[in-house]
Amino acid sequence: MPSNRLILCRPLLPPSIFPSIGVFSRESPVDSFESESEVAQSCPTLCKPVDCSLPGFSIRGIFPARLDADKYENDPELEKIRKERNYSWMDIITICKDQLPNYEEKIKMFFEEHLHLDEEIRYILDGSGYFDVRDQEDRWIRISMEKGDMITLPAGIYHRFTLDEKNYVKAMRLFVGDPVWTPYNRPSDHLEARTQYLEFLARTA
Ligand SMILES: [Fe+2]
Repeated sequence: MPSNRLILCRPLLPPSIFPSIGVFSRESPVDSFESESEVAQSCPTLCKPVDCSLPGFSIRGIFPARLDADKYENDPELEKIRKERNYSWMDIITICKDQLPNYEEKIKMFFEEHLHLDEEIRYILDGSGYFDVRDQEDRWIRISMEKGDMITLPAGIYHRFTLDEKNYVKAMRLFVGDPVWTPYNRPSDHLEARTQYLEFLARTA
């Protein structure tokens, strides 16, 4: 059963120009993955997400965008972002029970708190899900991702991903250069990417 502290959420950031990306933070850090796996999907019914702002995201180096997912195959806006940010590689992944091999194992892996040595870039083409990221005070921030939302998580940020109650998402994965998907589960504070991310947070505090 979920503990009380996991359902105590509060608005974190002011209204946004990206209305479909909702962000909220829990009152305290979470220390158990297993006990919160149910909460990860039921929390939206217990907590009212609020919209986030671009400045709020930029503090942590997170780059959000809102695109027309219906025209992702020929979208000048998408191409512009890819060119500006050097997202040279892409593929499309569908996460649902019938289409993703080793579904249960993958879902569990996605929800382990981890970081990467490179940016993690996702563009939601259909369905929905949640990215949880740690803020400067090590609290979870939940980002609700729906069709048309793109997000770039910086290298070195602790995060995790889960589906919502619909259990389905189709997403474009982008990458700068050849993709490397290796997750480094927490604790991985010794890695250079983590050090650089913390230095970035200190500079932008
Ligand atoms: Fe990741």
